[in-house]
Amino acid sequence: MPDKMSTHQSEDDARNENILIYLNGKIVAKDQAVVSVYDSGFMLGDGVWEGLRLYDGTWAFLDDHMDRLFQAMKAIDLNMGLTREGVIGALLETQKANGFTTDAHARMMVTRGVKARPFQHPGLSRSGPTFTIIMEHSRPKLPRPIRLATVPHMRGLPMTQDPKLNSHSKLNCILACIAAEKAGADEALMLDVNGFVNTTNACNFFIVRKGEVWTSTGDYCMNGITRQKVIDLCRANNIPVFERNFSLVDTYDADECFLTGTFGAQTPVSQIDGRQIGDGKAGPVTLRLRNLYKELVAREAVQ
Ligand SMILES: Cc1ncc(COP(=O)(O)O)c(C=O)c1O
Repeated sequence: MPDKMSTHQSEDDARNENILIYLNGKIVAKDQAVVSVYDSGFMLGDGVWEGLRLYDGTWAFLDDHMDRLFQAMKAIDLNMGLTREGVIGALLETQKANGFTTDAHARMMVTRGVKARPFQHPGLSRSGPTFTIIMEHSRPKLPRPIRLATVPHMRGLPMTQDPKLNSHSKLNCILACIAAEKAGADEALMLDVNGFVNTTNACNFFIVRKGEVWTSTGDYCMNGITRQKVIDLCRANNIPVFERNFSLVDTYDADECFLTGTFGAQTPVSQIDGRQIGDGKAGPVTLRLRNLYKELVAREAVQ
């Protein structure tokens, strides 16, 4: 199968067939890593997750990821029965079991656990949470520029499904991605409730105009850790950066566009709704920020 173009593009790695998975306190083989059909995550999308990356022996921005995970669990009233140190311990145990030292990606997932009956009420989730960590070999590389298409789907609103929750239920984002693929693109560009450019279905979104870096206000998108690092890097390096409303008119005509996320770091965008962005390749500001981000990760690793 040809590699699908997306921000999660990565080479298939045969070693990932033999990885070990953390499941409720045990390390198990991939084919043994199964959860019940009564699991709240499987049945209802009732759970939250975090994606982390290992660079040179260090899980990048681990504190930020732990803050966000514990914030999300508090918001959905899920007590996983582990402290922060316990969660980090599980991550390190999984890393050790797999012998990873660098270039790995972890997806940490917590659900409300196995339900007593196949119905929605959270009171039926009585057996305690399900906690699992999938850790795969994943080499970071400059992703190929991707094509976006705008779609009618939105991330949730604060009073529906708050966009700042990394919820197990990604259905609205998946529908957005399907719509974008059917329009001939790789990933969806989603607008906010007022029609301003907001996010993609899996990453935060930035444009570059005349040397200035613009991203959405942040009100309607995931509070991406990579997004915040890019904003901080701009500020520290005298690159003008603005969190503001902007529309597709500003976006089609941008000099560069790029996405941010833990998995792909900074991913250039070549085309949006059939309009080429810049010269269709990663632009100078995107490449500079990618290098600054790499340096930041390396600095974190030696601390
Ligand atoms: C919708 C969405 N936006 C943005 C991101 C990127 O966030 P981060 O930079 O923390 O990986 C993610 C990944 O969790 C996401 O699911």
